[in-house]
Amino acid sequence: MSKILVTGGAGYIGCVLVEELLKKCYDVRVLDTFYFGKDPLNNLSEGFENLEDRVDILQKDIRHTTKKDLDGISCVVHLAGFSNDPTAEYRPDLNNSINIDGTEIIAKICREKGIKKLTYASSASIYDQGMEFLGKEELLDESSKVNPKAAYSVSKYAGEQILLELAGKKKFSPVILRQGTVYGFSHRMRYDLVVNTFVKNAFKKGIITLDNGGEMYRPIVNVRDVARAHIACLEALKKK
Ligand SMILES: NC(=O)c1ccc[n+]([C@@H]2O[C@H](COP(=O)([O-])OP(=O)(O)OC[C@H]3O[C@@H](n4cnc5c(N)ncnc54)[C@H](O)[C@@H]3O)[C@@H](O)[C@H]2O)c1
Repeated sequence: MSKILVTGGAGYIGCVLVEELLKKCYDVRVLDTFYFGKDPLNNLSEGFENLEDRVDILQKDIRHTTKKDLDGISCVVHLAGFSNDPTAEYRPDLNNSINIDGTEIIAKICREKGIKKLTYASSASIYDQGMEFLGKEELLDESSKVNPKAAYSVSKYAGEQILLELAGKKKFSPVILRQGTVYGFSHRMRYDLVVNTFVKNAFKKGIITLDNGGEMYRPIVNVRDVARAHIACLEALKKK
């Protein structure tokens, strides 16, 4: 059975994706620094047999990935990195090094090893329309102009550019998913994401707070749908 490398596989999206991959009978290698611990993966074991044979764990920084780390891998889902504005603003240098250089390192190894399929977790935050967009009903899609401003979104967009630059060479076929703000349950829960914050506040305080008069708009997507979208992209590429 095909083995998929998931960078950031112990994160909010990653541990849900690992579960979805296992359900579809893929084996998995998780490459992660485990900033949030290994518990999100330890909680998977229910219902999956021979988990230790099916999931390899590589605790390391993506920037130190070697060619050997990708031995036996057929496809890569690249999720690892700084994943929100506050962490990116706190250490913009590290954010760039991990989100931009880290993406380049993984992509180049894939290309050198002839691994054609890589999906990349980009972000809809690269559209950043700012406050002047409030109240306007215009919908944006992949053909719309992007306008990344903050350290995080600039780094996600730079990651896209690197992948597009490398695409096509040696048949390397990355797929970029500009994910909306994700919501829903994961064993590595994130409460800094808007819908999850609403739910947490509703339970803890009995109130939901809407900022800016409730006029702000952002695309939202369920965490399991994101996981399945990555798998659908890997499988679509496989048919070619
Ligand atoms: N959650 C969202 O709403 C959302 C929206 C759009 C895009 N994204 C992108 O999706 C990806 C996953 O997001 P998430 O919500 O699961 O984030 P997360 O912070 O929960 O998970 C990120 C994972 O990457 C790991 N990691 C961080 N730096 C690393 C490094 N240098 N080397 C190896 N591992 C490292 C962390 O330990 C963590 O397990 C990120 O790239 C993020 O930018 C997320």
